Amino acid sequence: MSMLLLLLLLSPVIVMAERCHPDDKAAILKIKNSFSNGPQLLPWTADIDCCSRFDCDETTNRVIDFSLTNTDLAGTIPDAIGDLTYLKTLRLHKMPFLIGEIPRAITKLKHVTFFDISWTNVSGHVPSFLSELKSVMFIDLSFNNLSGPIPPSLATLPNMIGLELGRNRLTGSIPESFGHLTSPALQGIGLSHNMLSGEIPKSIGNMIIYRFEVSRNNLSGDASMLFGSWKNTSVIDISRNNFEFDLSRVSFMVDSLVTLDISHNKIYGEIPSQILEVYMLQSLNVSYNRLCGKIPSPWKLKYRSEGFEFDNSSFVHNKCLCGSPLPQCK
Ligand SMILES: *[C@@H]1O[C@H](CO)[C@@H](O)[C@H](O)[C@H]1NC(C)=O
Ligand SMILES: *[C@@H]1O[C@H](CO)[C@@H](O)[C@H](O)[C@H]1NC(C)=O
Ligand SMILES: *[C@@H]1O[C@H](CO)[C@@H](O)[C@H](O)[C@H]1NC(C)=O
Ligand SMILES: *[C@@H]1O[C@H](CO)[C@@H](O)[C@H](O)[C@H]1NC(C)=O
Ligand SMILES: *[C@@H]1O[C@H](CO)[C@@H](O)[C@H](O)[C@H]1NC(C)=O
Ligand SMILES: *[C@@H]1O[C@H](CO)[C@@H](O)[C@H](O)[C@H]1NC(C)=O
Repeated sequence: MSMLLLLLLLSPVIVMAERCHPDDKAAILKIKNSFSNGPQLLPWTADIDCCSRFDCDETTNRVIDFSLTNTDLAGTIPDAIGDLTYLKTLRLHKMPFLIGEIPRAITKLKHVTFFDISWTNVSGHVPSFLSELKSVMFIDLSFNNLSGPIPPSLATLPNMIGLELGRNRLTGSIPESFGHLTSPALQGIGLSHNMLSGEIPKSIGNMIIYRFEVSRNNLSGDASMLFGSWKNTSVIDISRNNFEFDLSRVSFMVDSLVTLDISHNKIYGEIPSQILEVYMLQSLNVSYNRLCGKIPSPWKLKYRSEGFEFDNSSFVHNKCLCGSPLPQCK
């Protein structure tokens, strides 16, 4: 009887046992207090178990996922985030009042695989010390107020799968090092809506990459190295730049290309009829270039109904393209 009573008394204690590591709790309270409106917006208190609010590792009980999204927290990125040393995911997303630079303290996150600071007002450069995050697989710094060049050292990240730097104010050129990325598993690069200039390094042509997006920059010269029928690229968007090369010379990725947008450049030559073999193509735009010759047909598109032709808006405003869906060739 007394044994049962003892169990009854103990059980709530067992259920309530705190998992949160004291170091993580201290870091989380520091993070909260570093925002001017943190105490007002964040309900975390010293008596809360941080593992009830954040994902902790099952065995070590260390916080592995720290995500703040859609919040008006105001201030800079707290250095104390670097004290959550076991993080695998850091996500600061849709925080319009998050300002200042990305602090060096985040290089303490040696286990982070998913690094996302997006849709904030973080400014300054894309720090080259991000290359110290050796475990990182995804970096998303899109929709911020970042300026300056892309650090070449990002190409040394051995596990990187995706890099999103779109919608910032980045300048300079795409680093030559990107053609020699050490990660064998790179899936995508997104650099759209910046102020990048210069040519795409030739070496990028050696990369097997799934998605390459650089629209709305001021890139120039040749982009033909992105193509090649042996590659398995699925998405290419180089629209709204100053690219100038002969499209007649390229071959398309027959088994993989789904989206191709090269609109608003100075691309010349003809559309190779080999494009008709790209059966997965769902979106095509070659408008506003200097192309000539007959638009290839008939399309053999797997995901389009029989007899489908692309809309004429995919082809308009070229030098002398002709044939359906544009007017007949003379
Ligand atoms: C950055 O701040 C400006 C002005 O306060 C705001 O309009 C904009 O939405 C913010 N940007 C983001 C991505 O939240
Ligand atoms: C973006 O950063 C610049 C400094 O690089 C600053 O002058 C500007 O106010 C920032 N914009 C916003 C919306 O915070
Ligand atoms: C774009 O780059 C060209 C050189 O390729 C330069 O003449 C032009 O001024 C640049 N435009 C902008 C808006 O930066
Ligand atoms: C593309 O091809 C490479 C090498 O053949 C392969 O490692 C990679 O997984 C492929 N990617 C996709 C998205 O199919
Ligand atoms: C192609 O791009 C032009 C110019 O940006 C745009 O007006 C048109 O709607 C696009 N067409 C398609 C089918 O994407
Ligand atoms: C494109 O098609 C629309 C109707 O679908 C037509 O009004 C327009 O004149 C065509 N433009 C060109 C350049 O063929």
